[in-house]
Amino acid sequence: MPKEKKEAFKNTGKVAIYPGSFDPITYGHIDVVERALEIFDKVIVAIAENEEKRPLFSVEDRLEMVKTIFRDTPNVMVDSFKGLLVDYVSKTNAKVSLRGLRATSDFEYEFHMASMNRSLSPQLDTLFMMTSKDYFFVSSRTIKEVARLGGAVEGLVPDLVVRRLREKFKLPVAKRKHLGWDD
Ligand code: PNS
Repeated sequence: MPKEKKEAFKNTGKVAIYPGSFDPITYGHIDVVERALEIFDKVIVAIAENEEKRPLFSVEDRLEMVKTIFRDTPNVMVDSFKGLLVDYVSKTNAKVSLRGLRATSDFEYEFHMASMNRSLSPQLDTLFMMTSKDYFFVSSRTIKEVARLGGAVEGLVPDLVVRRLREKFKLPVAKRKHLGWDD
């Protein structure tokens, strides 16, 4: 994290950490960040370097995409972390971990994670925000599957992410033309 940004995030206002894999970031994630900025002074988007999840995009690629997307949003800082979230949070002045909830199916996983984090660090609370209705069906996993199979993900992820997905899932020229990717 650049030194100036680190300084700016010390002891100033209410800070929330928004942790996740962001593999890749979707408009669902962006919607959560934008709404969180109405409540918090600053939001730290913390990208987990979870290699065991075998991410499609390297942490460097994910950082680059998320930084580009929020480059004109001064109250958002983008960083990555390895290891436990609570250890990363302890290096910041955030007291809240922010997570989006799409449907009841997310609840059990989120409840376990929030409870484990609270057991590890009683100072850390998890705040859930319901995903907006336009994005409740959007997840990084389904975006990757649809993109891999040549489906359209425009409108669900930023254009930059659409381009990166196309680069990752290079399709044969005939299929690209058929899908209108080369127009
Ligand atoms: O976007 P994801 O994959 O649902 O995010 C999950 C994430 C990265 C927030 C979670 O796996 C995490 O916090 N990983 C860091 C390791 C950790 O702290 N684990 C203990 C919590 S169960």
